[in-house]
Amino acid sequence: MKRQRVIGMFDSGVGGLTVMKEILDRLMDVRIVYFGDTARVPYGNRSREELIRFGEESIAFLIAQGAEVIVVACNSSSATALPFLREQFDIPMLGMIEPGARLAVKKTIAGRIGLIATETTVRSKAYASGVSRALAKGILPEDLVLRKAWQQGEQDIALVKAQGCPLFVPLVEAGLANSAQARGIAQTYLKPLKEAGVDALILGCTHYPFLEPVIRELLGEDVLIIDPARAVVKELEILLQHMEEWEQSGLIVSPASSVVGKNYSRSHYFVSGDPGLFRDVGNTLLQEPIDLVEQVILGE
Ligand code: DGL
Repeated sequence: MKRQRVIGMFDSGVGGLTVMKEILDRLMDVRIVYFGDTARVPYGNRSREELIRFGEESIAFLIAQGAEVIVVACNSSSATALPFLREQFDIPMLGMIEPGARLAVKKTIAGRIGLIATETTVRSKAYASGVSRALAKGILPEDLVLRKAWQQGEQDIALVKAQGCPLFVPLVEAGLANSAQARGIAQTYLKPLKEAGVDALILGCTHYPFLEPVIRELLGEDVLIIDPARAVVKELEILLQHMEEWEQSGLIVSPASSVVGKNYSRSHYFVSGDPGLFRDVGNTLLQEPIDLVEQVILGE
């Protein structure tokens, strides 16, 4: 029987659950160890140095729990810290930005991509670079009219507007994703994107898919909402297939069974803050029970 691989994931709080859900729904042969750094949320206004330190602590912890692959389920960390983290740990890692940017390039039909994200992610310009890199690597829009126009130099494909949304994460963490407050604030944040005429909007923070009903209501049906988590799952699936092959050909060695054998169910949660609050908010957001939430203090 195929062994279930252990995926370690981290985010500042409940946001990474949107990525976790996609993974658990689509990939059967995995188990997830999740760390939510709820004592230090939000990450979206942190410096790169802080996010590198938090990332190092989270990854070291997840590896100690048996993680064989790391999904950085936080755009702010992916946008700033991931290149440094990749150099420090000898474990495959996936972030949110490259898969999200590639998906946006494939799905846009007018070449006018918008982004909502934390201030840190917006400031990093990581998504704009990701879009340019995707095009440079030969990724093209699926829409044939746009593809032709772009190839003939008649239509650009680019990130035309990025909007920081600092109040979204505290709203989601407080369980207010579907509230009148969220709607009012979203209206203000989305206005410049509507004015810029974006046709595809990247949800560049893993907390934001919980706000998708509100965002959809305000944007209408004409704007495509891009959740990078869907692309991350596909890339994770490919990575896991490669790992299987590498293991069979002896290129990598599977971790000791004592580590992999830790007796976790399909998902196991650790948080640095209040486990009860995480459980309550997570239950409401996912609409399914979250058990097994343990508190762990990392860093100082
Ligand atoms: N969910 C994270 C992200 O994708 C962090 C948001 C925050 O804590 O500000 O950016």
